[in-house]
Amino acid sequence: MAILITGAQGQLGRALRAALTDRVVAYGKAKLDITRLDVVRAAIDQLRPRIVINAAAFTRVDEAETTPEPAYRVNALGPRNLAVASAERAIPLLHISTDYVFDGRAERPYHEFDPVFPLSVYGLSKLAGEEAVRSLNPRHYIVRTAWLYHTLGRNFVTTMRELADRPQVQVVSDQYGSPTYAPHLAQALLRLLDSRAYGTYHIAGAGGTSRFELTRTLYRLLGLSTPVTPVAASAFPQAAPRPRYAVLTTLQDPTLVLPAWQDGLSAFVQAARSRQTGPQHPAS
Ligand SMILES: NC(=O)c1ccc[n+]([C@@H]2O[C@H](COP(=O)([O-])OP(=O)(O)OC[C@H]3O[C@@H](n4cnc5c(N)ncnc54)[C@H](OP(=O)(O)O)[C@@H]3O)[C@@H](O)[C@H]2O)c1
Repeated sequence: MAILITGAQGQLGRALRAALTDRVVAYGKAKLDITRLDVVRAAIDQLRPRIVINAAAFTRVDEAETTPEPAYRVNALGPRNLAVASAERAIPLLHISTDYVFDGRAERPYHEFDPVFPLSVYGLSKLAGEEAVRSLNPRHYIVRTAWLYHTLGRNFVTTMRELADRPQVQVVSDQYGSPTYAPHLAQALLRLLDSRAYGTYHIAGAGGTSRFELTRTLYRLLGLSTPVTPVAASAFPQAAPRPRYAVLTTLQDPTLVLPAWQDGLSAFVQAARSRQTGPQHPAS
């Protein structure tokens, strides 16, 4: 029986496709729109997968603030549909959530049992998705991750790499998080599935850092000398409030801890270099 992945064209969807050696059916939005219960039911009934992994999401955090409905459709209704249809067939569901369910006022890394308090529509919609999955399919894994990046995809790391040809870049130094290299997360998710221990997990690059430090480390690894200036988040007003400190840690399963965020960044730089020089692998 296959593993069914939704959101297959996204950063995590692609990383999962590359990591999985089992039979995989990976559907993008055109083939499996998770906001439609009839479509979700038909796919699950036809495939009878041994597990469903939901890597689909509405991730445009600032857009969600001004147009909340699409965010709720994909991030809340979508997981609800997947939970209903997978529960009907007693199939486990692995759903991905976010550090943005926290308000970022903590003074230490957040673990799985800390109270949630989203600041943004995106965070609220993701929390609603978590709650639907938790209540509708008892065979669930909910994995909160953070600051996800991949060589394939638009994210903070690829953006900072593109900006490096400027004379200097200014980067926020008062927002902290857990940068997570998508292929590292994909490997840990496979280990989690083997554990068969349902529940809520935090899986993100180990250690925490600021966006400023992340950028400095990226440029050092790339051998670039672009000057990086620290600035306050208030210098870059954004529609959606971000948690100030959203570093994640785990109490649930220490074997799922990812490599340090610096190692994730090194792996990203290596992968980016080999994509430039080597043959192109669409799902690597
Ligand atoms: N990116 C981050 O920094 C971050 C941080 C913490 C947690 N997460 C979570 O990690 C997970 C994976 O994120 P990611 O960065 O891989 O996201 P991503 O690159 O934006 O991929 C999400 C994918 O879902 C697809 N999608 C959107 N609406 C859909 C629908 N109705 N049905 C099916 N597919 C749909 C998107 O297609 P279109 O692009 O065509 O809309 C996209 O291919 C998400 O749950 C996200 O909330 C991400």
